[in-house]
Amino acid sequence: MARLAVAAGHRVVLSNSRGPDTLLALAAELGPRARAATVHDAATTADIVLVSIPVKAYPGLSGQPLAGKVVMDTGNYYPQRDGPLPELDSRSLTESEYLLRSLPGAEVVKVFNNIMFKHLLNLARPPGAADRSSLPIAGDSATAKATVSEFLDSIGYGTVDAGPLAEGWRQQPGTPVYGTPYGPFDDELGTPAGAEPIRAALAAARR
Ligand SMILES: NC(=O)c1ccc[n+]([C@@H]2O[C@H](COP(=O)([O-])OP(=O)(O)OC[C@H]3O[C@@H](n4cnc5c(N)ncnc54)[C@H](OP(=O)(O)O)[C@@H]3O)[C@@H](O)[C@H]2O)c1
Repeated sequence: MARLAVAAGHRVVLSNSRGPDTLLALAAELGPRARAATVHDAATTADIVLVSIPVKAYPGLSGQPLAGKVVMDTGNYYPQRDGPLPELDSRSLTESEYLLRSLPGAEVVKVFNNIMFKHLLNLARPPGAADRSSLPIAGDSATAKATVSEFLDSIGYGTVDAGPLAEGWRQQPGTPVYGTPYGPFDDELGTPAGAEPIRAALAAARR
């Protein structure tokens, strides 16, 4: 995502759990629009925040200054990696509702979770391209979803509105829209999937 964002002219602030020193090489590779920072610095600085960390680490974000900010959540709950997390095992919360619990007031939008990172990089296309792909987004704030749609458009993707955060299960692991529309993982180039197949896959999801 950082590579696509930099290529589209956005400034990117990278952070991780180990600290900015471990991200200097990546920031340098990304060029002058990218810099490495602490999590707090990134959270404070960014207009739009991307949270792309293991779901089990979400509670550790609590206290970050993200109230009122658009927060894009890429997370997928895999019990063998993240669990057990009772709220997710019982399906009383969707993954992004679970993130929201640690970030009260944040305008969380679930996005990018259903596409493998190499496909994300390789399937980006300019507006109007016949083979442009779409990504589903789920969120409770119409303005936050509009901001994310605009951002996705800038980095090479269309958007399909999948509804509020409570409907985010429609794009969680195991659903028709999860990974499959963009082709097998061993084909790194991926298969374009426009709005229609993404909409159909969301509608076909069953709990
Ligand atoms: N990989 C994909 O293609 C893909 C696609 C869609 C969705 N997702 C989902 O996105 C999430 C992240 O996946 P990933 O593949 O990027 O995982 P990953 O390679 O394990 O990366 C996790 C990143 O999160 C950082 N991190 C972990 N805990 C943190 C914390 N408390 N604060 C700040 N940074 C923290 C790690 O930094 P350190 O190394 O410094 O700990 C690392 O940079 C998962 O839920 C995954 O299912 C992944």
